[in-house]
Amino acid sequence: MEKIALTGAQETMLATLYGRALDSERPESVLHDDEAKRAVDRIDYDFGKTGMNTTSAVGVAIRGRVLDDWTREFLQRTPSCTVLHLACGLDTRAHRIERPDTVRWIDVDMPDVVALRHKLLPTPQGDYRLVASSVTEDAWLAEVPADRPVVAVFEGLSMYLTQAEGHALISRITGRFPSGELLFDVYGSWGIKLQKLVPAVRNAGAVLHWGVDDPREIEALRPGLTTVDAWRSVDLPHLDALPRSGRIQMKVVSAIPKLRDVGKLLRLRW
Ligand SMILES: C[S@@+](CC[C@H](N)C(=O)[O-])C[C@H]1O[C@@H](n2cnc3c(N)ncnc32)[C@H](O)[C@@H]1O
Repeated sequence: MEKIALTGAQETMLATLYGRALDSERPESVLHDDEAKRAVDRIDYDFGKTGMNTTSAVGVAIRGRVLDDWTREFLQRTPSCTVLHLACGLDTRAHRIERPDTVRWIDVDMPDVVALRHKLLPTPQGDYRLVASSVTEDAWLAEVPADRPVVAVFEGLSMYLTQAEGHALISRITGRFPSGELLFDVYGSWGIKLQKLVPAVRNAGAVLHWGVDDPREIEALRPGLTTVDAWRSVDLPHLDALPRSGRIQMKVVSAIPKLRDVGKLLRLRW
């Protein structure tokens, strides 16, 4: 069993891992992330601390599924490319997504998370690298060849960055590669205000900083960067997989103007 010494933003990845593990145990699983369940079984941690229930677990799985599907669509259109999977945590996206050898896949997270990942998850097939660095550093990206289009997927990251860090990261990625896509989730400014209501964030002592209300904020970071999709969390596909109480919760939230924009999934292209 692996004991956990993580705190703050790094600790929150145990909540999303646990969410995917809970989803995988349901007969109507959205993500079928059996590797997440195997990892959870090997971690010595009070997962009750994450506050995950069936609704939030299936919510995490739905978000992951949409980002997986968008990534697959990109790989199908652009089989020779680089995938930057930032703030990978213990997410098994690199195991879930089948891809040809022409795809270069790079997972990045903080050194303490990467150390745990080495112990708990098998190394995925193909051209794969796991990089231990803050995404706010320059060096890791400078080492990635800029010879192919890129798809940068980052789930549960943007809100932990300051706005200046988020803008700098997106400018560096979109400035380095000739073309590509950004696939990521954002909190709206109300989500940032209400962060103490998210048990996984509160109990890990993490702090959320950056909220995005309008994707034009991201488009302004590079000429030609265009929003392809901006989906509210309450409007995502697969919501019928939620338990009844969760479906009712979504209906209520989607009727309240400020609340329905607390979370979005964005797909931008340049
Ligand atoms: C909510 S978890 C999401 C993890 C994973 N994407 C998932 O969905 O399970 C937040 C992750 O962001 C990572 N993170 C936060 N700030 C980071 C930074 N500056 N550089 C790299 N990773 C960061 C944390 O270490 C943690 O793994």
